[in-house]
Amino acid sequence: MQPYDKLLLENKAWAHQKVEQDPDYFNRLAHLQTPDFLWIGCSDSRVPANEITNTQPGEIFVHRNVANLVIHTDVNLLSVLDYAVSHLKVKHVIVCGHYGCGGIKAAMTSHDYKQVLNMWLRNIKDVYRLYSEELDAIEDEEKRADRLVELNVKEQVQHLAKTSIIQRAWKHEQRPQLHGWVYGLSNGLIKPVFEMDENTQIDPLYTYDDL
Ligand code: CO
Repeated sequence: MQPYDKLLLENKAWAHQKVEQDPDYFNRLAHLQTPDFLWIGCSDSRVPANEITNTQPGEIFVHRNVANLVIHTDVNLLSVLDYAVSHLKVKHVIVCGHYGCGGIKAAMTSHDYKQVLNMWLRNIKDVYRLYSEELDAIEDEEKRADRLVELNVKEQVQHLAKTSIIQRAWKHEQRPQLHGWVYGLSNGLIKPVFEMDENTQIDPLYTYDDL
């Protein structure tokens, strides 16, 4: 048996169990997707969105990448955001980072991870630079990395607010609310660290007037 065969076997068992509990389960899901939440999380295998929030298929629209970044030239993320906000009409967008994030720690070193990783991590280095005074004052390396995880989440939520996608939805539909959360690998708990909604003032330089 190949390692991936276990996944296929488990999938069969899972599908069977679901139908046994609720014969209409897949029929219902196949015809309807009305999630209230968009989750932008880290690709880290220890932070599965549905599992840590005890939600079911159909409840959360998910995008994950290394260190949960919102980058304005990332067509992948922006497509997910646009679809979730403009078409699925999600009420909440959650950026969820996690303590002990390998992407965050990597960005704090001078190690050459070669392109393309250097390009990606560069975005986190820019967040560090923005808050370098606060971060440099934290002596403990682990604590400094954890604080950068929190600040990174805050920064990515602000990036969301700078998109015309979010600004248009705020203006016309007073949603979605934006949330910055951090998940603790050591205790399984999520800590909310930042929030924005349609009433939050943002830098006029980043606002669009023809939404
Ligand atoms: Co991570």
